[in-house]
Amino acid sequence: MGVAYKKSRLCNWIWCLITVALIAGAIVVAVVIIKNKKSSSNGDQSPGSNFSGNYTESMRLALTFLDIQKSGKLPANFPISWRGDSNLLDGSDVKVDLSGGMYDAGDSIKFGFPMAFTATILSWSVLEYGPAMEKAGHLASAKTSIRWITDYLIKAHPTANELYFQVGDPDVDHKCWFRPENVNSTRPSIKLDPTAPGSEVAAETAAAMAAASMVFRATDATYADLLVSHAKQLFNFSNTYRAVYSVSIPAVQAFYNSTGFGDDLLWGATWLYYATGDNTYLAFVTGVDGTNFARWGVFPSWFSWDNKLAGVQVLLARLQMLNPPSNAVNTVSKGLTDYKTTADGLMCAFLPQSPTATPDRTKGGLLWISEWTSLMQGIHSGLLASFYSDYLSAAKVSGITCSGTTFTPQQLKAFAASQANYVLGNNPLAESYMVGYGTKYPKYLHHRGASIPTNQIIADCSKSWNWYDSPNPNPNIAYGAIVGGPFKNETYTDDRKNIQQNEASVYNSAAFAGLSAGLSAGLSASNPLTVAWI
Ligand SMILES: *[C@@H]1O[C@H](CO)[C@@H](O)[C@H](O)[C@H]1NC(C)=O
Ligand SMILES: *[C@@H]1O[C@H](CO)[C@@H](O)[C@H](O)[C@H]1NC(C)=O
Ligand SMILES: *[C@@H]1O[C@H](CO)[C@@H](O)[C@H](O)[C@H]1NC(C)=O
Ligand SMILES: *[C@@H]1O[C@H](CO)[C@@H](O)[C@H](O)[C@H]1NC(C)=O
Ligand SMILES: *[C@@H]1O[C@H](CO)[C@@H](O)[C@H](O)[C@H]1NC(C)=O
Ligand SMILES: *[C@@H]1O[C@H](CO)[C@@H](O)[C@H](O)[C@H]1NC(C)=O
Repeated sequence: MGVAYKKSRLCNWIWCLITVALIAGAIVVAVVIIKNKKSSSNGDQSPGSNFSGNYTESMRLALTFLDIQKSGKLPANFPISWRGDSNLLDGSDVKVDLSGGMYDAGDSIKFGFPMAFTATILSWSVLEYGPAMEKAGHLASAKTSIRWITDYLIKAHPTANELYFQVGDPDVDHKCWFRPENVNSTRPSIKLDPTAPGSEVAAETAAAMAAASMVFRATDATYADLLVSHAKQLFNFSNTYRAVYSVSIPAVQAFYNSTGFGDDLLWGATWLYYATGDNTYLAFVTGVDGTNFARWGVFPSWFSWDNKLAGVQVLLARLQMLNPPSNAVNTVSKGLTDYKTTADGLMCAFLPQSPTATPDRTKGGLLWISEWTSLMQGIHSGLLASFYSDYLSAAKVSGITCSGTTFTPQQLKAFAASQANYVLGNNPLAESYMVGYGTKYPKYLHHRGASIPTNQIIADCSKSWNWYDSPNPNPNIAYGAIVGGPFKNETYTDDRKNIQQNEASVYNSAAFAGLSAGLSAGLSASNPLTVAWI
């Protein structure tokens, strides 16, 4: 301030000209900022604005991140140059081959619960949007990633009532900042069995296998049958020995703690019904277990790796709308109607213009529930809304009613697009939250493999943190990683140490691949979703 004042006192013509120009410039900038602020609070960032996402590109990137997360022996000509074989010794402690599978996020642990969920939602996406993925050239990649997970899940389920759900000790893993390729010691394998049961993990794994069986049925019926037989056993294990896995094995509570298994039982049974057509599973979800666990008429429940109720509602509303079972007994018909009503209520909570819209949104329009991995809700809700929109259209239903106001399938699609576009850069920071998408994206993802050059073999754990602390951007780009996301107040810091906001997850990228397919041009009247599964 002092300096500027002095200069204006010494005003010769050139200084005056510069000062005037600077002041004029400042006014222009201020006006632009105010205008932008105004337009953003007028809803410029919300659905219907002119932002156009390249969903073919975001689909490609999201699926690329699933490749990046692959553990085990990688195939020849693997597309990610900076990834190599890792943790080939997994399972050797229990003499079961547990190599393979996927890392969930930025470290080297394999968590079976979110891994199975990732396979389930990607399978669901392929079942609905396979033609759109194929048109974009990415169906093969999606199917390869599903199978990468289900091959692992098959190995993790060696006998009927035994399921390995975790490899690696997070406390040990988190002591060193090693690339997965560098962690080649033996790691503990942890399992569920009748002495330490875990219904949610077993039921989610059953769901993944049942859903994937339908993805592979047309091209590999033997594999599909194998998946179905594992799924049936796992569902029975889940249902017979009812328990919360993180209560049976409290050590796992620090990561992927479960809040209950009722939703997972319904989710597993629903997928098994679709995969087998066996009415026992339909009776399960609409009978006493439906009454106990489905929370009919209670909405919204937020869809995530922990809570599948919203997914169950949408799947069973699909059944009711598109192929209701003939000769259904009363409890089944009533149950399906209850699921449909609850799913409608969920959609009404999503729609920003609905009288029952959830207030849990950022100013920029992101559905926002949790400070950790905050983008998860927008992405998963967007995916469900996209599915629902297409189910309504396929059933030739004109819309849903929210406290007397009717909303069309197109409005649900617009909500889905708003969540996807937010992630891709249509947000107040104009920041793409997907690594590699657009020009302004996170450069400091919290990710061991991305942050350490491949030629660094680190022998000494204490030295490994140099790469964590490095002020430089990650040397390897983890394309398609979606960072945790912004706080409710639309702030976000691209910092490797910011675990809360800057770590990615396989389930968010898998759901984003599906959401991108649901929004892509490949899905159109001439190329509609695949209606019948059973
Ligand atoms: C959006 O596009 C339409 C049609 O191209 C145009 O009329 C409108 O001015 C655009 N709106 C904004 C905010 O750019
Ligand atoms: C979208 O991205 C793809 C690459 O995935 C590219 O080929 C295409 O040209 C892009 N489309 C537009 C409109 O930019
Ligand atoms: C682990 O990796 C290092 C570096 O590649 C190698 O020297 C060592 O032999 C490996 N150890 C095992 C147990 O495979
Ligand atoms: C379900 O599990 C129980 C307990 O392990 C077993 O006795 C029963 O045979 C199983 N039923 C089916 C249909 O697999
Ligand atoms: C895990 O979830 C259970 C059930 O919701 C809860 O009681 C427990 O406190 C949670 N544990 C941690 C470490 O958050
Ligand atoms: C935004 O929210 C975060 C998390 O609640 C908080 O730490 C931060 O101070 C807030 N920033 C601003 C500018 O309000």
